[in-house]
Amino acid sequence: MVTGASGTIGSAAARTLAELGATVVLNYNRNPDGAEAIAGAIRQAGGRAELCAADVSTPEGAEELTGYAVKQLGRLDILVNNAGITRDGLALRMTESDWDAVLDTNLKGAFLCSKQALRPMLRQRWGRIVNVSSVAGLVGNPGQANYSAAKAGLIGLTRALAREVASRNVTVNAVAPGYIPSAIWDDVAEEAKAAVLAQIPMGRTGTPQEVASAIAFLASEEASYITGQVLAIDGGMT
Ligand SMILES: NC(=O)c1ccc[n+]([C@@H]2O[C@H](COP(=O)([O-])OP(=O)(O)OC[C@H]3O[C@@H](n4cnc5c(N)ncnc54)[C@H](O)[C@@H]3O)[C@@H](O)[C@H]2O)c1
Repeated sequence: MVTGASGTIGSAAARTLAELGATVVLNYNRNPDGAEAIAGAIRQAGGRAELCAADVSTPEGAEELTGYAVKQLGRLDILVNNAGITRDGLALRMTESDWDAVLDTNLKGAFLCSKQALRPMLRQRWGRIVNVSSVAGLVGNPGQANYSAAKAGLIGLTRALAREVASRNVTVNAVAPGYIPSAIWDDVAEEAKAAVLAQIPMGRTGTPQEVASAIAFLASEEASYITGQVLAIDGGMT
């Protein structure tokens, strides 16, 4: 199950997991056409994909999503908490609603979905949760106090959950992407993008596939003894 799967990184993760044989539940909250197109592409390539509209930032949405996966498919093995939004602005001018919206989607959403997904995972004694954090959560980005706090919180959530469920063969890890061109960058000024690019030792932005490959690895049997880790995918930035 991939949340926010109609987006750039989420769709790449869904496609990659499907290529590796997973039946993928693609969650989206807006843009049904985008989600349908991704599901269609996965099916055309011989994979299996289901669609589930739900707002992960609400308990009802998280419950509906996980319930859908378990009812339709009988089990839930992998949860990728990828849904995310930004509402940038300097802290002095940031509204409470911009703070809440970002925390609700990026952090509370991951908590709510994990809470629901852990029930079947603990029962079947196998599970993988991969949280999509950000380098903003590692180093803090100016103009993104809400987003940096949410993504740092996601790292704390990852490490705490990892300890809680390790004995049941459920792993919880995070990836922390750097600069991956996507809709999330649309409102960022060109000078700010250039400044970020200048901090990347590899001298280029990352691709959605580079993030998806790391997610797929952490979700695989090969990563069975790795838990509570944060893997930066940032061209050396951090
Ligand atoms: N692109 C980057 O450079 C970058 C870097 C670090 C981390 N990330 C993180 O990667 C994740 C994916 O971002 P992206 O770059 O693909 O952006 P994106 O905007 O393409 O994808 C985000 C997706 O999340 C969905 N979403 C938002 N709120 C939701 C909700 N309440 N319920 C369900 N779905 C919801 C959106 O509809 C969208 O499809 C995000 O968590 C983002 O913070 C991105």
